[in-house]
Amino acid sequence: MNDVLPDEIGRWQRLEKAYARAMSLHGFREVRTPYVEPTGLFKRAIGETTDVVEKEMYSFRHHDDELTLRPEGTAGAARAYIEHGVQAKETVSRWWYQGPMFRAERPQRGRYRQFSQLGAEIFGEPGPGCDAEMIGMLVGFLGEVRVPGVEVFVNSLGGPKTRELYRDALKQHLTPRVGMLSEDSRRRLETNPLRILDSKNPADQEQVKDAPTLHEFLSDEDRAHFDGLRRHLDALGTPYTVDPKLVRGLDYYTRTLFEIKGAHEKLGAGSTLVGGGRYDFLLADLGGPQVPAVGFAAGLERLLIASELEVPAAVVDAFVAPLGEAAIGAALVVARDLRRHGIRCEVDTRGTSLKSQLRRANTLGSRMVLILGDAELAEDVIQVKDLEAHTQERMPRAQALRVVVDRLIAASRGVDSRPPEPLKETS
Ligand code: HAM
Repeated sequence: MNDVLPDEIGRWQRLEKAYARAMSLHGFREVRTPYVEPTGLFKRAIGETTDVVEKEMYSFRHHDDELTLRPEGTAGAARAYIEHGVQAKETVSRWWYQGPMFRAERPQRGRYRQFSQLGAEIFGEPGPGCDAEMIGMLVGFLGEVRVPGVEVFVNSLGGPKTRELYRDALKQHLTPRVGMLSEDSRRRLETNPLRILDSKNPADQEQVKDAPTLHEFLSDEDRAHFDGLRRHLDALGTPYTVDPKLVRGLDYYTRTLFEIKGAHEKLGAGSTLVGGGRYDFLLADLGGPQVPAVGFAAGLERLLIASELEVPAAVVDAFVAPLGEAAIGAALVVARDLRRHGIRCEVDTRGTSLKSQLRRANTLGSRMVLILGDAELAEDVIQVKDLEAHTQERMPRAQALRVVVDRLIAASRGVDSRPPEPLKETS
């Protein structure tokens, strides 16, 4: 689990903001569900024989309740959708979420026990059009947050019937080769043979190389759905690779499955940025209505490793440096007036030397420094130092405020990178 210190938070916030914007442009609204859910929900939704449920959940008992820190967001969103009877209120729901998830995995770069996801779910749209829209949206978002080398992989798992037929065929193919499989895969042959396709073990990969593919078992409807997805992605001009061996670690998926990877030097091979897919039967399986759904989640820490986005390091744009006790009160007023115009501003109240105050202004990345000593107070003037233009001018207080605001507007620096507001009146 990680601390995110203030030096790093700027990049987090920038990504979160870009994501919220992308979501709102696509008609999604935010949902917030609890971090803790009944353990049974995850067992039913994700599947008893998945790695997540078998090995990775932080589960605990509290009196009579069996509870788990959420390892992902889909199960909770589905539970909330059912519990609040949302399908009776609207035929299509587009929800997004963000927040911490918990999995007791072996920590490594880009893999943590508490990590953050940016996710979304669409309930009530059965066709492949929204699957394609989702993938296209993600590729656009990843470009916007400057993730290089984005690659999309898609597959279709078909419906439950296809899965069943394929599971049997795969079992038949692998059973004579069981001696050559890794210990994990030998166990999975009985419980969840599809997961063997996903194994990183070279011995397992050798055995599945010539295995039948899922695509040979797709029904006509499944195939039409998958063809539709590909057609729509082509229409959007979104490049993708069909990977018939793509399976994912969660059991609820049907039909469309996708993963997005970025350039990998910093992340290590096999590290997926985004995973998602369709889960048309999950709501019904959880006791809800038969509503088709599709969604995805991106690992925020991984996006931050992959993203080349830089955010300006400046903490404030103006720094007010009072010299002497009497000037501190006046400095507080000057800073308050600047902030009213959207200027990020800090006052040094330590009562230290000008040299030490200038050092602090520099550390904060402040462009403007307003210096106020006893002499300035007496004449109602301020020394305005522009650290970028390397100038220092002494001017009346009202003019000083105007100069600072104007220069920062011209440089378009201000709270949230919004330009500061023009100065209308001076006090
Ligand atoms: P997932 O593939 O388990 O899918 O996780 C999605 C993403 O979360 C991964 O691609 C990865 O970027 C990130 N992630 C997962 N585990 C960790 C970890 N231990 N540390 C850091 N990042 C991690 C889901 O969670 C599904 N709920 C996605 C979904 C939504 N499918 C349909 N709707």
